[in-house]
Amino acid sequence: MEFVRVPGRPLVGHLFDAWEDGPRFMLRGLLEHGDHVCFRFAHYDYRLIGDPEDVRHVLVRHHENYVKSRNYAGLRLTLGEGLVTSEGAHWKRQRKLAQPVFTPRRLTGFVDTMAACTDALLEDWERRGRGAPLALDVHREMMRLTFRIVGLTLMGVDLEGEAQTFAGALEEALHFANDYVENPLSLPPWVPTARNRRFRAAMATLDGTVGRLVRARREEGGEEDLLGMLVAATDGGERMTDAQLRDEVLTMVVAGHETTANALSWTWALLSQHPAVARRVEAEARSVLGDGPPTAADLDRLEYTERVIREALRLHPPVWIIERDALAEDSLGGYRVPAGATVAISPYALHRHPRWWANPEGFDPDRFLPERVAERPRYVYLPFGAGPRVCIGAGFALMEAKLILAMIARRHRLELEPGHPLEADPGITLRPRHGVRVRVRPAPPATRDAAA
Ligand code: HEM
Repeated sequence: MEFVRVPGRPLVGHLFDAWEDGPRFMLRGLLEHGDHVCFRFAHYDYRLIGDPEDVRHVLVRHHENYVKSRNYAGLRLTLGEGLVTSEGAHWKRQRKLAQPVFTPRRLTGFVDTMAACTDALLEDWERRGRGAPLALDVHREMMRLTFRIVGLTLMGVDLEGEAQTFAGALEEALHFANDYVENPLSLPPWVPTARNRRFRAAMATLDGTVGRLVRARREEGGEEDLLGMLVAATDGGERMTDAQLRDEVLTMVVAGHETTANALSWTWALLSQHPAVARRVEAEARSVLGDGPPTAADLDRLEYTERVIREALRLHPPVWIIERDALAEDSLGGYRVPAGATVAISPYALHRHPRWWANPEGFDPDRFLPERVAERPRYVYLPFGAGPRVCIGAGFALMEAKLILAMIARRHRLELEPGHPLEADPGITLRPRHGVRVRVRPAPPATRDAAA
């Protein structure tokens, strides 16, 4: 059987519909046309799948037939051949090299740094608020915080001073990368258009920061962190070149902070809209953490907070689309996938499909109680992907998000500014388009009711 072709507009096909709101477009596709849908973006066929068995087939069982899709070309312009964008033997070697940094034991060692950075952010809020409720964009704050944490834990450097310039450059580069594949009128990056020049300037800024990190470590050595391991790594006597190191470091900095910051930002927005859930998070944070700095054992006990984060990741998965190109012809549930075809899996659409989720648009952290998780197929919830290319930083991200959420919630309440538009901006990640503007107020002292 062939995938179900959805009729589109003349010439452009579904291009504009997908541009308008990609995640909702994917969800509508599955709801209206079933689990094997073929869209057309101009002359390019784009196959979307919705059956969890097919998801498993592509990402896990027959992953060797599926490589990252051609649409990662834009990201490759920015991240080069780092872990997210590389393939084959090079990817395998780099993944093996980086893996030891993300074992549970190593992650435990990051708790103190994460806590110290969160404390510093809270002190900064206190200074800025001077006792009055502080108005801020919590998305921006979370980006700053996760950026600093990734620098300190994985590279051993404090990037606090660079956050602003780096963030601006990254935004420019990622926007460019996104447009590069989405916009059929993009000119190659070497053509000196204003846009391309801005991209080159942004890349020079990113390279400058990363280059400094690498050079300093090459000269000084030491440190058993990710950067230290990459710098020291040899492959049959060959060290990684500066260009390879740059790609890996930039990849980790980019993949390791924006996704988690998005997850936290959406979580804050949801908590503000669901005060009863927010009060439970606050009560759990107080009873588990008390007043002191969190320990790794504390984090394991933040069970409700973890369910809240998982539910926020369901509704707003920062990686809302995962794409592969088939190397050889294949069949998914009896539907033909031609060689070279793009197959897309949308965590956003799977996470909101009514076949798997009752009241899919509602916010209900208890969906992630173990007994309810056991009722669902494994491959309908994919915030971190699956198979050999599953997110290497999933444990890192969950630990970090729990720690930040609990440390802030035990003392502060974040309330959305009335009327603030909460709209998703689905680029390479699913960001809040207008940030998340909140007012920060001190949480009142614990009451017996709240702890119930
Ligand atoms: C909530 C936060 C995060 C989310 C939702 C997320 C999501 C994902 C997803 C879905 C993939 C797989 C993409 C695919 O199969 O095409 C992935 C890959 C990856 N992630 Fe994450 N991620 C998060 C945090 C992190 C962190 C904290 C780090 C590093 C410290 C990280 C580093 C990576 C890397 C290096 C890859 C590529 C792995 C490979 O292909 O071998 N991520 N991430």
